[in-house]
Amino acid sequence: MELDDLYRRVIMDHYKNPRNRGSFEGDAVTVNLNNPSCGDRITLQLKVEDGVVQDARFQGEGCSISLSSASMMTDAVKGKRMEDALRMAENFSCMMRGQDVDFDYDDLEALSGVNKFPARIKCATLAWNAMRKGLEQKPDVKE
Ligand code: FES
Repeated sequence: MELDDLYRRVIMDHYKNPRNRGSFEGDAVTVNLNNPSCGDRITLQLKVEDGVVQDARFQGEGCSISLSSASMMTDAVKGKRMEDALRMAENFSCMMRGQDVDFDYDDLEALSGVNKFPARIKCATLAWNAMRKGLEQKPDVKE
């Protein structure tokens, strides 16, 4: 199987079977963001305790790239320390600029080809920007 086909399958799997889609009750950071170029939106909830992202859920509407990216991001940051989650967001931005980066959540590599389509970069980064915004609201974050 070609790498592009594999990546496409990974993206479609997250799009059709999104991980962590939904919301939770209780103490959570909530961020609403939209993609100004198309109007698609995400609501992200993060449950953070003792500097660790204990849970992450999202709702919203968007294209396959934005929703698969949200699915991957929420899965990837669960259990991570806030500073590590923010570092991951920075690495994701580097990947969107065409740099080679390693993630300990392999599915993210499926989005590496998005950097060749500048109009789609905002789709892929929407959920990550929401996560960054949410964690930066927490006063105890260290970068
Ligand atoms: Fe709207 Fe991708 S086209 S988020």
